[in-house]
Amino acid sequence: MKQIKIGVIGVGGRGALARCAHLPEEGCKIVAGVDVNDEHLKKFKEFAGDDVFISKDYKKLLAIKDIDAVFVTSPDFLHEEHALAALLAGKAVYLEKPMSITIEGCDRLLKAAYKTGSKLFLGHNMRHFPVILKMKEVIDSGLIGEVQAGWCRHFVNYGGDAYFRDWHSEQKNTTGLLLQKGAHDIDVMHWLMGGYTKTVVGMGMLSVYDKCKRRSPDVPGCAKWSSAQWPPLEQTGFSPVIDVEDHNMVMMQLDNGSQACYMQCHYTPDAERNYTFIGTGGRVENVGDYGVCKVHVWTQRGSRENPDIVYNLKPLEGSHGGSDPAIVREFLRFVRDGIKTNTSPIAARNSVAVGVQGHKSMRSGCNAQKIPQLPKDLVKYFENGQKRK
Ligand SMILES: NC(=O)c1ccc[n+]([C@@H]2O[C@H](COP(=O)([O-])OP(=O)(O)OC[C@H]3O[C@@H](n4cnc5c(N)ncnc54)[C@H](O)[C@@H]3O)[C@@H](O)[C@H]2O)c1
Repeated sequence: MKQIKIGVIGVGGRGALARCAHLPEEGCKIVAGVDVNDEHLKKFKEFAGDDVFISKDYKKLLAIKDIDAVFVTSPDFLHEEHALAALLAGKAVYLEKPMSITIEGCDRLLKAAYKTGSKLFLGHNMRHFPVILKMKEVIDSGLIGEVQAGWCRHFVNYGGDAYFRDWHSEQKNTTGLLLQKGAHDIDVMHWLMGGYTKTVVGMGMLSVYDKCKRRSPDVPGCAKWSSAQWPPLEQTGFSPVIDVEDHNMVMMQLDNGSQACYMQCHYTPDAERNYTFIGTGGRVENVGDYGVCKVHVWTQRGSRENPDIVYNLKPLEGSHGGSDPAIVREFLRFVRDGIKTNTSPIAARNSVAVGVQGHKSMRSGCNAQKIPQLPKDLVKYFENGQKRK
């Protein structure tokens, strides 16, 4: 069994995900990490051991020849730079969502992976959420007929804890939160509905967190998660610059004739991603998105309170409802054995494209925006599991 040596770019925050890949007994070992923050490097070293290589310069990590795979878990605006350099250095790349903050950035990454043959894997862990997999199973079984409509209401009660206190609050770092958060949900909707958006219309607004008290520009931004932080308008310590919307809505027409909409609000009291998919023979909906949750299915005329089928899903071990260890295992098997994956770089690009064009629409009079198409040979390469033949 080939050993996989792993490096991590951005070891703090979401970088903790890479720890799921540290499985020395299975031949997978974290050997290097990069971060600009000393405290994060110190904690990383405590986890990975004294012999781990650490640096503040990602180029030094990429110059280590026997590193096979790199996790890119740095902030969104660095994804393109870090992942591109890793692909060009011949490393297999686990890239966190969103793939990039621009469509052009995504396309440069796809082209670099195609040209170099370096493997590219996107961290869309929602494709491993049990509730999403169950809804996909229901749809693929034909139980609700042919899906024509998909809706997602995304209640983000931690919006004011996280996204309006640090780098997320600025368009230059994220393009906007429709893209930042919605990349997950738009990807899920594309996956379950079996198509990609061709046209998008958006509306969005910043109408709550712009009214909250800001921190001084010389105090560093810091997400501060607490359920005591309520009500929204009484919160303090927000970013000096906030130019992203706190309420986003998009409507999408997919290339298979179906239609979808996605609504995201950052000042709700409760948190949930609530999807429903409506087909020619029924409807499926999730109640809860991870942990203990249910999937309801209606296949007869009836009432919302009485679904025809209820699936009760049990919580799994591991962060994000067990999806983090599952997606990391998928990545390792993709690197080692080239297995077919739930996630897809083309799909990741297409979810970013809806985010970019949705923001463009909402910021320019809500006009419909087309999604730029990718060259066919590029799509074929990724659909073929990143194999030339
Ligand atoms: N899939 C998921 O469930 C999920 C969950 C959380 C975050 N994310 C994604 O993970 C990424 C990181 O998010 P986060 O909340 O951890 O952000 P963060 O701001 O905590 O940054 C992550 C780490 O990158 C480091 N970093 C910053 N600049 C760097 C640089 N120039 N070089 C190297 N390291 C650098 C930071 O010090 C930090 O340790 C984002 O793109 C986000 O979208 C995904």
